[in-house]
Amino acid sequence: CPSILIKEVNIFQKQFQAKESDIFVASFPKSGTTWLKAITFSIVNRQRFSSIDNHPLLTSNPHQLVPAVEFMYRGDVHCPTTEPRVFGTHTPFPSLPNSIIDQSNCKIIYICRNPFDTFVSAWIYFDKIKLEPLSTLKIEEAFEMYCNGIIEFGPWWSHMLGYWKESMAKPSKVLFLKYEDLKEDVNFEVKKIADFLGFPFTQEEENKEVIESIIKLCSFEKMKDSEVNKSGIIYQFLEKKYFFGKGETRDWNCRRSMLEGTSGAGDSCWKD
Ligand code: A3P
Repeated sequence: CPSILIKEVNIFQKQFQAKESDIFVASFPKSGTTWLKAITFSIVNRQRFSSIDNHPLLTSNPHQLVPAVEFMYRGDVHCPTTEPRVFGTHTPFPSLPNSIIDQSNCKIIYICRNPFDTFVSAWIYFDKIKLEPLSTLKIEEAFEMYCNGIIEFGPWWSHMLGYWKESMAKPSKVLFLKYEDLKEDVNFEVKKIADFLGFPFTQEEENKEVIESIIKLCSFEKMKDSEVNKSGIIYQFLEKKYFFGKGETRDWNCRRSMLEGTSGAGDSCWKD
């Protein structure tokens, strides 16, 4: 747990009372949380904000609309006032409050991403926000630490497996998604999320291309180019613009080699 959040994660565990209608977007950092928050918020609020022209995502960053519970306890973001409440969390599954794990029917959507991409994305990101110790390390040193689980909310494997096992045991409670699948067929995944949350698209909505407009609103290009995401901070030291990098899959080796000044070995390592 990052040292600046230990107290907050502790309060979250002990005090958070989940409501039946609550939704949690859970992830390991740099796995596509921002994207999934935007999609989830748009799906469940589509009746309230039927016009895309004055949608809150055009004036607020997804992390402001869907607060990270850990940061909520720091006072950096506010608890949603409308239901269903949608929250984000990086807390590992076994460390979630009991009221989420088994005392309510709230839902969790977990997004998982190729760990190499997650690592390189985090390394670049921590360098930009100057978050030590990652920002001061060579990429080999940082990778060694990552493999040994010394990374915020790590180890990656335990984090991912904790949510994956629960999604197998309770598929109506936890939906396990992959960043790569969203990139491959976002239309299919958006429908899957809407069905899982109990907000399925009607035929009329499909005819009106509501799904397509949500996808466009939440797309990497639209979000990265949006004025609201170009400057300012979300939490105390996290600048909005750094949440949008390249938004690609399996690009880790290319980016790693650029950072190291060496030529990449191609995509075969990940495939193997
Ligand atoms: P890269 O650094 O590889 O570009 P998180 O939101 O969990 O912090 O993850 C950040 C990663 O998700 C970044 O990856 C970022 O570019 C990517 N991302 C952010 N918004 C996205 C979107 N709308 N569509 C696809 N990828 C997105």
